[in-house]
Amino acid sequence: MRFLTAGESHGPKLLGIIEGLPAGLTISKHVIDEALGRRQKGPGRGGRMQIESDQVNFLSGLRGGRTTGAPLALEILNRDWVNWEKVMAWGEEADLESRKVLTPRPGHADLVGNLKYRTEVRNILERASARETAMRVAIGSVAMQLLNCLGVEVKGQVTAVGGIKARTLEDRDYWQRVGNSEWAVADPQAEERMWQRLAEAKEKGESLGGVIQIQVHNVPAGLGSHVQWDRKLDGKLAQAVLSVQAMKGVSFGIGFEAADRLGSEVHDPIQYCKGRGYSHTSNNAGGIEGGMSNGEPIILQAVMKPIPTLYSPLDTVHLETKEVVQASVERSDICAVPAAKVVLEHVTAWVIAAEILAKFPADTYVELLKAWQDYNDYLHAQ
Ligand SMILES: Cc1cc2nc3c(=O)[nH]c(=O)nc-3n(C[C@H](O)[C@H](O)[C@H](O)COP(=O)(O)O)c2cc1C
Repeated sequence: MRFLTAGESHGPKLLGIIEGLPAGLTISKHVIDEALGRRQKGPGRGGRMQIESDQVNFLSGLRGGRTTGAPLALEILNRDWVNWEKVMAWGEEADLESRKVLTPRPGHADLVGNLKYRTEVRNILERASARETAMRVAIGSVAMQLLNCLGVEVKGQVTAVGGIKARTLEDRDYWQRVGNSEWAVADPQAEERMWQRLAEAKEKGESLGGVIQIQVHNVPAGLGSHVQWDRKLDGKLAQAVLSVQAMKGVSFGIGFEAADRLGSEVHDPIQYCKGRGYSHTSNNAGGIEGGMSNGEPIILQAVMKPIPTLYSPLDTVHLETKEVVQASVERSDICAVPAAKVVLEHVTAWVIAAEILAKFPADTYVELLKAWQDYNDYLHAQ
């Protein structure tokens, strides 16, 4: 299964094409729209998200609510387009002057994109923008719906924002609290401090980053492979996560903490239970060994850097005069960590779903379900 996306931040629409979905899979537009709505929310988001109200339209590959096996084409309209029609017009009538950017923002793709593609900065930032992640959420939601049919659950939480760390010891209604929290944290005290940190950042024209954790439950052992570098599941997940704008680090299980511990304190002892098969007594590996899922929940952490557009801008160099000036300010988020959590849930769902479709016969959903059940029975009978 593969996908491509297209579309500029202020262009008419975002486009996506998924190829390789099994035929006969039920897809709900409502579920996709709900995920798109969650991506738009969260403390610290800028004015753009008040203009947009993202909804998906299907253009091909779906009939009567079920996939046909043909490529699934999706679109999301940019409501802001009406304000940019002249600037973003594809023909000669385009106004190339009025929104020209000559003062590249540090931390963004502006300068390096301008140098590499020898084109105006606006042509770079329009595509580098995280507006593109709306389509990745829509595509990931299709994958998520496939996973949910198989009983696989993907969920995420924010574990830190701007240096404020949330307590993550899971109790009874832990995930309910995460779901009800605007910050996607289960720790009300941390949440309160995050609001304060956001207010301080806003006051100073600053921005904030944070840490996001993603969990995948009910994944059988054996997704991914040890045999080749580009088939390793942790490598694929890391690539998907790091491809999301502003993600600067990813770790699995106890991650960097493993460097400080002894081997016996890191590796997860194996146990056996008749009728259930093999499992581990701990999950420091985060569910992946040798590039393959090992049957335990997959746990990954991602680091998001602070948003690069600053309302108190850093120094930059004017592309024509070469003078030191302040960087440009595009309307911007101050913090997008909770929104990025939604994006990471969906890019993770994509990788897991794609691995499942690579492993099992999947021309049709019925064949996939049968093979999936047989394989899970085999694992339990070991
Ligand atoms: C959900 C989300 C929203 C974002 N919003 C903004 C924003 O409003 N302004 C901005 O400058 N960067 C924003 N970013 C980050 C930039 O898109 C990103 O830093 C930039 O494209 C450079 O890529 P890099 O940080 O991966 O190197 C956002 C990222 C995500 C995931």
